[in-house]
Amino acid sequence: QSKPIQIKVVLLGEAAVGKSSLVLRFVNDEFQENKEPTIGAAFLTQKVRLDDAVLKLDIWDTAGQERFHSLAPMYYRNAQAAVVVYDITRESSLDRAKSWIKELQRQANPNIVIALVGNKLDLAGTPEPTESAATGESDAADEGSEEGEEETDETRAASEGIGRQVATATARAYADEAGLLFLETSAKSGEGVVETFTEIAKKLDLN
Ligand code: GTP
Ligand code: MG
Repeated sequence: QSKPIQIKVVLLGEAAVGKSSLVLRFVNDEFQENKEPTIGAAFLTQKVRLDDAVLKLDIWDTAGQERFHSLAPMYYRNAQAAVVVYDITRESSLDRAKSWIKELQRQANPNIVIALVGNKLDLAGTPEPTESAATGESDAADEGSEEGEEETDETRAASEGIGRQVATATARAYADEAGLLFLETSAKSGEGVVETFTEIAKKLDLN
């Protein structure tokens, strides 16, 4: 195909959930451990190839700090797609994501494709809250099987309670109800990142 179709995409979400990190992973396949907060917004582009089309995504990565909230409409106005990001290790960030989604549904393009994205999947630690965890039973049976299990940053984070706070099923149920795409990602490992933008591209009505 000759000319790429240009698509405006905006990223929204609470400060420090990893919006810029997701874009940096998608555009440059890089990750920075201590990324500085975005001031205002950043603009990047990347192409996505579908079976029968090439899309050029014009990506507006907005600043999550509250003092920048009033700028957001400039960036989501006329956007064909929005990626609303929360951090799976911070429950409050899902509430913030929900309020962004309400704002988009009220004020943005009525056909906008919205993806709800739970980032920092690499920090989830071990399994999602299981029934035994929920009922407070201890995992005594696991106690003897520690040999060979190395303590990594991730397992340590999990044992210190920094792991997952938002269950996949909870977020997915909300996304289904609201008619959103839903993915979990890690900007750090790259998991789910390309898929996020490909799923959006597939859902856009290009005609
Ligand atoms: P604002 O620009 O202030 O709105 O923040 P942001 O949403 O752009 O977050 P940013 O990408 O700057 O990431 C914030 C911090 O989280 C940085 O220290 C990142 O390195 C870290 N981070 C981002 N994504 C991930 C991830 O997937 N896993 C882990 N472990 N850390 C991440
Ligand atoms: Mg940023």
